[in-house]
Amino acid sequence: MIKIAPSILSADFSKLAQEVKDVEQGGADYIHIDIMDGRFVPNITMGPIIVEAIRPVTSLPFDVHLMIEDPDRYIDDFVNAGADIISVHAEACTHLHRTVHLIKQRGLKAGVVLNPATPIEWIIDILPDVDLVLLMTVNPGFGGQKFIPNVLKKIRRIHELKEENGWTFEIEVDGGINEETAKLCVEAGANVLVAGSAVYRSKNRREAIQAIRGS
Ligand code: DX5
Ligand code: ZN
Repeated sequence: MIKIAPSILSADFSKLAQEVKDVEQGGADYIHIDIMDGRFVPNITMGPIIVEAIRPVTSLPFDVHLMIEDPDRYIDDFVNAGADIISVHAEACTHLHRTVHLIKQRGLKAGVVLNPATPIEWIIDILPDVDLVLLMTVNPGFGGQKFIPNVLKKIRRIHELKEENGWTFEIEVDGGINEETAKLCVEAGANVLVAGSAVYRSKNRREAIQAIRGS
């Protein structure tokens, strides 16, 4: 079962509630929310108050992608704002095990994220504890970038490790996902596809979601 997580980073923020409802009606499985602090990544986006503001608009799970340094400081704010899944970058956590368990103790699903150039070894020891592994297929910071094909090897390897060990985490990809690159990622073992511009820049979001899902 392939899940589609439209990233609201590419939505029209002047009518954000409507944009969230539109992808829910279009068949989205998660709402992907990109939080950037201007330090871990060059861009600044939104904080917990936006997450809280759109929480009543949809019943879809909020898939919160934290691109911030030292994310432990803000976990509770995003929990209280209504996040369902919180993912943190291995590169941004000094004590990744502590951060993952902080998220889980709050009753949420915890994900770990790797930038395109970060090796799997960085997260190998935490894999039994996580609910989701997010492999970046662009360098995080902006929507609308080009897919980096070299990450496919990493998706395959994570998928193999998951199968060998009987782990149940989801494998998510994020960045430059469209109909074509989605297919490659699914073949490699991904089951959650984030798509920003491919969904929000298309007039018919339902058709875009279906095309990316491949059905
Ligand atoms: C990139 C963000 C992505 C971004 C994806 O830093 O994490 O979620 O919104 O946008 P597209 O699908 O346009 O590459
Ligand atoms: Zn993201």
